[in-house]
Amino acid sequence: MQHTVLTGDRPTGPLHLGHYFGSLANRVRLQDRFPMYVLVADYQVITDRDLPGEIQRNITELLLDYLAVGLDPAKVTIFQHSAVPELNQLMLPFLSLVTVSELSRNPTVKDEIAHSSQKAVSGLMFTYPVHQAADILFCKGTLVPVGKDQLPHLEVTRTIARRFNERYGRVFPVPEAMLGERPLLQGLDGGKMSKSRGNAIALSATEDETAALIRKARTDSERLITYDEENRPQVANLLMIASLCLGRPPAELAAEIGYGGAAALKRLTTDAVNDFLRPIRKRRNEHGEAEVREILAEGNRRARERAVVTLDEVRVAMGF
Ligand code: TRP
Repeated sequence: MQHTVLTGDRPTGPLHLGHYFGSLANRVRLQDRFPMYVLVADYQVITDRDLPGEIQRNITELLLDYLAVGLDPAKVTIFQHSAVPELNQLMLPFLSLVTVSELSRNPTVKDEIAHSSQKAVSGLMFTYPVHQAADILFCKGTLVPVGKDQLPHLEVTRTIARRFNERYGRVFPVPEAMLGERPLLQGLDGGKMSKSRGNAIALSATEDETAALIRKARTDSERLITYDEENRPQVANLLMIASLCLGRPPAELAAEIGYGGAAALKRLTTDAVNDFLRPIRKRRNEHGEAEVREILAEGNRRARERAVVTLDEVRVAMGF
């Protein structure tokens, strides 16, 4: 099967381990096999805040994260919403294909509203999953490597593709999600690991910052360490983080720690994470601002070329 891969991130802060195991690792693997687009979702930043904030800084950092984990701009088209008007225009016909009640049932949107600092919910918060359909369908993406929290959005995209094809004739493929090794890592406070919630281990954090974050992680007072996701979610989460970094089963690590308690668990996890991230952090320092700006300019040009073709097809199919 010939796939086109599309995925993306909001430039709101540094990428973290949850992104790595949820999606980035898959991207790096897929870039050698399929054409791939990676979106810097800059317009999606203003879904849960009033202002884009340090957007240029965040975009640079995001590109450095991409290069650090091994995305290769010679193989991958890296681009941004705000540079591709034809992608954004697809949102308009797509909005006509979903109902208000479908939009208001989206569990990920509900969770984001609950954690937003805004006083009121903007129209963009409700409709950005439709914008995300434009992200995926502008290049006729068929495979979308994402974390589990993105599955409701992917359902919206699939619905839009199907309905467009039913109403206007077949234009779009119906894309599939590709879940990472570990669909959803928890944050160190027990909530969703999130760059804006201060509970995540950033790929770009220093070894000391990493150690401090893990030291603060919530655990329980049981000395015997066991892997029990149901009853000891926080301990299990640390074990899972260590397990992913070491490539060893979490129960085996638990058995090794035995009666060492939370302190030994945290020591092991800290070492595992820092060892794992060391080469990634090193590679990050080998790239600079001017280089990432060039990569983005070239990606934007390529993405726009693709978007123009799809928007034309859409207009013709709809009879405009
Ligand atoms: N919503 C995604 C996130 O918060 C980012 C994103 C934007 C995305 N557009 C996308 C992911 C398209 C996959 C496909 O992580």
